[in-house]
Amino acid sequence: MTEIPEHLLKRSQARKQELSGDAAAASPATSGAAAPAVAARAVPAQPAAAPAPKAALPDPAYIASAKTRKKIPFWAMATLSLLPMWAFLYLLALQPKDEVVEGPMAIGAGVFGSCAGCHGAAGQGGAGRVLHEGEVLKTFPHIEDMLNFVYVGSQSFVAAEIPVYGNPDREGGAHAPLSYNGNPMPMQGQSAGGALTEYEILGVVCHVRYEIAGADPASEQWLEEYERWCSPESEIFAALESGATSFDSLDADFSMLMPEPPRAVGTKARPSAG
Ligand code: HEC
Repeated sequence: MTEIPEHLLKRSQARKQELSGDAAAASPATSGAAAPAVAARAVPAQPAAAPAPKAALPDPAYIASAKTRKKIPFWAMATLSLLPMWAFLYLLALQPKDEVVEGPMAIGAGVFGSCAGCHGAAGQGGAGRVLHEGEVLKTFPHIEDMLNFVYVGSQSFVAAEIPVYGNPDREGGAHAPLSYNGNPMPMQGQSAGGALTEYEILGVVCHVRYEIAGADPASEQWLEEYERWCSPESEIFAALESGATSFDSLDADFSMLMPEPPRAVGTKARPSAG
C-alpha cells in the first residue's frame, strides 16, 4: 500500500465509483450540476497528486503538432512587416478620391435644390426662366457674367440702371431685368442679402451650365472654361472655398481671367462683356 502512488489510487477510486453507477461523480463533464461535488471530494487527494511525474505523459497530438509545426517562413515576414505601410499608402491613395466628390459640380447639384422650385428640377422653367437645352448659355456665353447675375439678382441691375443682363446680342433677344412675367431673380450672394457662399454659387452655376444646360466640358468651346472654373481641380473653386479669395478680388488673384475685355465677377451688378 505504501508503494502505490496517490494519483493511481485516486484513479482506481474514480473508476470504482463509475462502475458502481455514480457516473456523474466520476466524470464531471457529463453534468454541470455534479461538478462542485466532485471537486469537493477530490480536494483532499490533490496535494499528493500535484507532484506526479508529468513528463512521463506524451503530449496529445494537437500539442505535438503545434510544437513541430513550422512558424511563419522568414520570407513571408518581410511581406507581413510591410502590411502597415501598405495600409497607410492605401489610405493616402483614398484622399484625392474624396476631394473629387467635393468639387464644384458635386456641391452645385445639392445647391440647385434651392433653385428648382422656380426653375424646375430639370431647368425647364416655371416661376423662373428656362435654363435647360442651352438657353442659359445663350444669355451668358461667359461664366463670369452668370456668376455676377446669380450673386446680385435682377433688382440690383434695376437699381444700377443696367438695361440688360448677359449677352446684349443674345440670340432671340437680350434679357432685360424683370422681363420674365415681371418677376425678379432673387439675389443669392451673402453680401447682397442672399444665403449662398461664393463657392456655392460657383458650384451651382457650374451645375447649371454643364449638367442642366448641357455644355460639353470636353468640347473645344467649353473645355477651357470648365477646367478653370468647374473641374474638380479648379484653383478658383479651391481658393473661394478656403476663403483665400472672393468674387471681388478674383481678377487680381487669377491672371488667367481674360483681361480683354475685363470680365470680373464682382458682388455688384455689372454690365456684361458680351
Ligand atoms: C423665387 C424664384 C427663383 C429662385 C428661387 C431662383 N430663381 Fe433664377 N430666376 C427667377 C426669375 C423670375 C428669373 C428671371 C429674372 C428677370 O427677368 O429679371 C430668373 C433668372 C435666372 C437666370 C437668368 C436666365 C436667363 O437666361 O435670363 C439664371 C441664370 C438663374 N435665374 C439662376 C438661378 C439659380 C442658379 C438659382 C438658385 C441658386 C435661382 N435662379 C433661383 C426666379 C428664381
